[in-house]
Amino acid sequence: MVRLGQLVLSLLAPLVPWLDETSGSDHVSLSGHRQNVTKSIAIVGAGSAGLTILKALLDLPTDVRQGWDIVLFESRMDVGGIWLADSNQPPPPPELPETPLYPRLRTNSPSPTMTWPDFPFPPGTPLFPSHEHIQNYHRLYVKHYNLMPYIRLNHTLDAANWVGPPDNGTWNLTVRVEHEGTQLYHHVDHLIIGTGHNHYPHTPTYPGSPDWLKGGANGKRELLHALYYRKPERYANRTVLVVGSGPSAFDIAQQVVLFAQTTYQSIQDGKERNYPGGEVVRVPLVKSFNRMSITFEDDSSLDDVDTVIFATGYELLYPFLSEPESSSLVVRPRSLDYHQNSSAARHLTTNLRYLYPLHEHIFSLSAEHPPTALSFIGLPVGIAICPSDRAQALLVAHAIADPSLLDSRDEMLSELMEREAELRAVGADPYYVGHRLNIWNDMGHEYNDRLVEFLRARGKMPPGSPFTEAWRRWSTELPRQWLLRRAWFRVESMGDEEMYRWVGKARTEDDWIDVMVRLSAWQEEWERENDIEPAPVDPTLKVWFDY
Ligand SMILES: Cc1cc2nc3c(=O)[nH]c(=O)nc-3n(C[C@H](O)[C@H](O)[C@H](O)COP(=O)(O)OP(=O)(O)OC[C@H]3O[C@@H](n4cnc5c(N)ncnc54)[C@H](O)[C@@H]3O)c2cc1C
Ligand SMILES: *[C@@H]1O[C@H](CO)[C@@H](O)[C@H](O)[C@H]1NC(C)=O
Ligand SMILES: *[C@@H]1O[C@H](CO)[C@@H](O)[C@H](O)[C@H]1NC(C)=O
Ligand SMILES: *[C@@H]1O[C@H](CO)[C@@H](O)[C@H](O)[C@H]1NC(C)=O
Ligand SMILES: *[C@@H]1O[C@H](CO)[C@@H](O)[C@H](O)[C@H]1NC(C)=O
Ligand SMILES: *[C@@H]1O[C@H](CO)[C@@H](O)[C@H](O)[C@H]1NC(C)=O
Ligand SMILES: *[C@@H]1O[C@H](CO)[C@@H](O)[C@H](O)[C@H]1NC(C)=O
Repeated sequence: MVRLGQLVLSLLAPLVPWLDETSGSDHVSLSGHRQNVTKSIAIVGAGSAGLTILKALLDLPTDVRQGWDIVLFESRMDVGGIWLADSNQPPPPPELPETPLYPRLRTNSPSPTMTWPDFPFPPGTPLFPSHEHIQNYHRLYVKHYNLMPYIRLNHTLDAANWVGPPDNGTWNLTVRVEHEGTQLYHHVDHLIIGTGHNHYPHTPTYPGSPDWLKGGANGKRELLHALYYRKPERYANRTVLVVGSGPSAFDIAQQVVLFAQTTYQSIQDGKERNYPGGEVVRVPLVKSFNRMSITFEDDSSLDDVDTVIFATGYELLYPFLSEPESSSLVVRPRSLDYHQNSSAARHLTTNLRYLYPLHEHIFSLSAEHPPTALSFIGLPVGIAICPSDRAQALLVAHAIADPSLLDSRDEMLSELMEREAELRAVGADPYYVGHRLNIWNDMGHEYNDRLVEFLRARGKMPPGSPFTEAWRRWSTELPRQWLLRRAWFRVESMGDEEMYRWVGKARTEDDWIDVMVRLSAWQEEWERENDIEPAPVDPTLKVWFDY
């Protein structure tokens, strides 16, 4: 009934004035059109985070979500988040590309570990697939669960302003309709952000770098962030310095070295890694730039570098929530507020690495609005995305249906302080590690399980086995992932038929588990028979964008 209503509305969308206003900047009154809407919800972003919460809301019992108006705004022309390639070359900085995706990007965790529960990849998907497979997987999800009627592509959220008192207001959303060049206003009770954290580059600045740029022969020198990196062929005959110790830095260096004259990588101590046959030259952290050269922490220097690629991570920003568009989020670059205390924060704040105060990395504890008015899906890093999005989405969907599910703001704030204290106790500064959930083993699984156990304890979900299935625990252990990687690359080197033999017929989740179990055994046996000492676990597998 409600679903059908939604469908009809979505077909009519351009004509329904409260949803789509094409005449420019007039505000359209909502009253008179929505008297039967009991709750309105906007989701931002159609990557794994946004799609997961959309489905979780639709999964609520029909009587619970009766009269809910749900819409998902996505600025790009298709679903898939960063996994959707851009059609054009990246624009020159400071304009931002739509995605950091480069043609040779593959996942760095085995595909079966990145899945939504009970929604395996299609047969034939490589174990470490290239990006097209991941984008297609998002499309299949949308199709299978009929999510498209709720999704507005080419719709960018430009501003979100809370209108009303803290306990009784709505979000006034300003949305740009890209393909029409128009704006619309949309009022919602609940705003759910799934915009990812790989959009705003973090580039360290050095006073001497403008001089260094000018110093090269006729404009040959360049500095760029990994967000702009696409094809390694571009670096043929150049000398490249990749800065960074995270997976992107290693991946890019490994690609560039195939073409560049010389490839250097500036790596933090303890993050070394052996390349299979690579000739990347390891150098220490960068200390300074001057007209002639780049100097490193050990006072060595290089004067032959043409290109510096900063694979130095991203900043946590939400321009539609912060000045000048909105006053809901305070931006305080991190140097100013390490060792802060979340309980003191009345306003939602980002220090570019950490967004606080949040309950469980999800609900905003800002004093401006109720906690369920603003939530975030997909903030955790160092965790398999889809399962974690799912656990978070279950909590958000139930809390929106019944806000009394959550404790009071004060209780949630003191819980947050306890969690921050736990991190400090193991030597991690919560304002630096931010939303990383791999500070200790199993931290991510514990987190997902805790969210679901909370719902069970409150009677929102039936009791059952832990949310994190035993096979996921098994397959996400780092040595296992590393073993599967070696196994899969061996399979690939044996050709298409061999690949098909392993994954060509895997249909169900159980089939995929079986593939991973058999591949592990196959590789272990081969390594044993050939006396191959497995390389130590790659420390960079542990974190995304460590900088
Ligand atoms: C190079 C790279 C490689 C990675 N590899 C892996 C991997 O192998 N395995 C893994 O698990 N993770 C990987 N990640 C992490 C990656 O963040 C996740 O895979 C996943 O993309 C997160 O999904 P998301 O939905 O949270 O965000 P995103 O994929 O970033 O999607 C956010 C969406 O929101 C939209 N959006 C943003 N702002 C607005 C706005 N104002 N209005 C409307 N729409 C908006 C964007 O267009 C985008 O479609 C990688 C990340 C990068 C950068
Ligand atoms: C809204 O609810 C009223 C009263 O319950 C009903 O008469 C009316 O038909 C409903 N309108 C729509 C569009 O469903
Ligand atoms: C909330 O605000 C609306 C409109 O401003 C008002 O009609 C309503 O009475 C308010 N409700 C409460 C509980 O204050
Ligand atoms: C919503 O935002 C628009 C654009 O800033 C503004 O013109 C309008 O007055 C706002 N509406 C309310 C109710 O605040
Ligand atoms: C989105 O915009 C692109 C290009 O501007 C256009 O080709 C496409 O049809 C638009 N999609 C929708 C759903 O309007
Ligand atoms: C790189 O240098 C080699 C040898 O000097 C030359 O043959 C080749 O064309 C150059 N490639 C590019 C892309 O400049
Ligand atoms: C955080 O601030 C609150 C209130 O200002 C104070 O009671 C608490 O002791 C502080 N905690 C820490 C760990 O500094």
